[in-house]
Amino acid sequence: MEDYLKFKYTHEDIFRLFVDSIVPSICETAAFQRLKGISFLGAVERTPEYSKRRNNRFDHSIGVALLAQYYAQKMGFSERDRIAVVVAALLHDIGHAPLSHSIEPLFAERFGLDHHVATEKILRGEVGLGKGLHSTLSKYAIDADELINLMSGADRTKTGRIFSSPINVDTVEAIWRGGSYVRKQFFHPLSVLDAFIECDFKTGSIVDRFWAEKHSFYWLMIYSKDGVAADYWARDRVGGNKRLAPDDFYLTEKHFMCKYVAETVSKVDPVEVSIKVRHFEVDERQEVSCYDTLSARYKVVKSKKSVLLHPPKKLESFRNSTLLLI
Ligand SMILES: [Fe+2]
Repeated sequence: MEDYLKFKYTHEDIFRLFVDSIVPSICETAAFQRLKGISFLGAVERTPEYSKRRNNRFDHSIGVALLAQYYAQKMGFSERDRIAVVVAALLHDIGHAPLSHSIEPLFAERFGLDHHVATEKILRGEVGLGKGLHSTLSKYAIDADELINLMSGADRTKTGRIFSSPINVDTVEAIWRGGSYVRKQFFHPLSVLDAFIECDFKTGSIVDRFWAEKHSFYWLMIYSKDGVAADYWARDRVGGNKRLAPDDFYLTEKHFMCKYVAETVSKVDPVEVSIKVRHFEVDERQEVSCYDTLSARYKVVKSKKSVLLHPPKKLESFRNSTLLLI
């Protein structure tokens, strides 16, 4: 179990750990290789505090695909259904922009481009980056629409449940990986999946503990002052630039930050920002015995939070195109 999931995967790991030959073929495409240059958490990973513990979307996506493969094997899926869930898991983040969620709102505002739209364009080969991946999928007779349906959570059958449920392969891998920043891991992803398959959602179960851990991770990292500041100043640096183009969405972070290396923040005084936040709460009164009511027990409560941010001391631009100073 220990060797099954890793924070970094080698070429050999990919051949060793997956049963279907399509996985190594997809991993070699330009679109998938680009994920090595996309930070897992976006701008916060480009700050001095976290840059030494940086993760990327390549390793996260392989981890998610391994969980999907484990689920498919335990559920006794046919080869066809197993390949569909593994490939959908592998490609679920293929459309993330440089700095992920940190910069995406700028593209959404100006060009109507977000990671859902970009994912579809890449999978259908409608942009240059997706041409090679699209032809690999065609070679293996994989339908892009079926993948999009699965990864969007629209399929609520037992095949798609592992994407559509609050307890899904993406979030299980992500919160486990997130433990590497805060230096703790309270659960093993395969144990969470086992409990999910066995419908073990009683009080004190590992799924309850996983949900509490998800809450901790969001509040320690994503909604921390550093997390909010990194997102805010990254957007502020790039937002004033009229050169921002739709094609920038498909760059790696290194190339993106090289293009905007001279940008500085626009403010000298502290600024109070209001952000949308989510609380992940277990409602123990809700006993669930089937998957359709899981969201009644594993609740997501939305609210807002104000954060006072101070501009970077020296108003420095992206340094060496690798770090954001906050
Ligand atoms: Fe993901």
